[in-house]
Amino acid sequence: MIRFLSRQFVVFAALAALASTGQAAGDPAAGKAKFETCSGCHAIAGYTNAYPTYHVPRLGGQHADYVVLALKAYQNSERWHPTMHANATPLSEQEMQDIAAYLSSFKTAVEPNPIQGDVAAGKKKSASCAACHGPDGNGPITQYPRLAGQYEDYLHQALQDYKTGKRNNPVMKGMVTPLSDQDIADLSAYFASQARGLIVVQHE
Ligand code: HEC
Ligand code: HEC
Repeated sequence: MIRFLSRQFVVFAALAALASTGQAAGDPAAGKAKFETCSGCHAIAGYTNAYPTYHVPRLGGQHADYVVLALKAYQNSERWHPTMHANATPLSEQEMQDIAAYLSSFKTAVEPNPIQGDVAAGKKKSASCAACHGPDGNGPITQYPRLAGQYEDYLHQALQDYKTGKRNNPVMKGMVTPLSDQDIADLSAYFASQARGLIVVQHE
């Protein structure tokens, strides 16, 4: 039994190691070329989605594994968003990996990010988020999104969408169910306000 368990562990460790090298699977140069079709929305600072109106998310510096998971969620409509469904649907696994490698190659940095909500209140409520997203929204686990420096109104929309089921994710559903609208506003302000964070993709 002990032997069996330790073998399980070795397999698990090997899989974990594979998962953590997910970034290497993609080709950033190919991803950059493929990202041209995405630039009209994602490479313009301050660009917004219409109805409901909120900022198109910053993607520069996002974790590669998470980008692939998000694109698949739009493909299979676990995340209901017709525009992103249309953009994600034609992408092959390799193209998603390439785009993810390109996006994650950007360094996190400081970009202007006006905050409406109560950052201090959000900080107090953020302890339960830190295990997965890091205390400042720059967690090391590549399957979980960075939140630091993301647009406040986008984070707010995403949290609401997990609550209403427009985004169908069991983990985040469990996290947002106990949150009030005020909690969601405070947490969005806190993570958006973190100085070193996501940036808008800009081709050099
Ligand atoms: C017409 C504008 C538009 C275009 C073009 C577009 N996107 Fe998006 N994208 C959005 C919006 C709006 C969202 C937020 C959707 C939501 O609320 O879930 C989004 C979300 C995303 C997310 C999720 C980010 C996160 O933090 O979870 C990824 C990844 C993404 N887009 C990648 C792409 C890629 C790759 C392309 C090109 C193949 C692309 N997008 C093209 C508007 C666009
Ligand atoms: C057990 C791990 C875990 C915990 C704890 C957790 N999250 Fe998440 N979070 C995730 C995962 C996984 C996703 C991606 C889900 C998906 O695919 O849509 C996510 C996605 C998000 C998103 C969407 C980001 C984007 O770019 O679209 C936000 C916002 C978010 N979490 C905020 C929070 C907040 C605030 C808390 C604390 C109240 C929290 N999370 C706690 C795992 C976690």
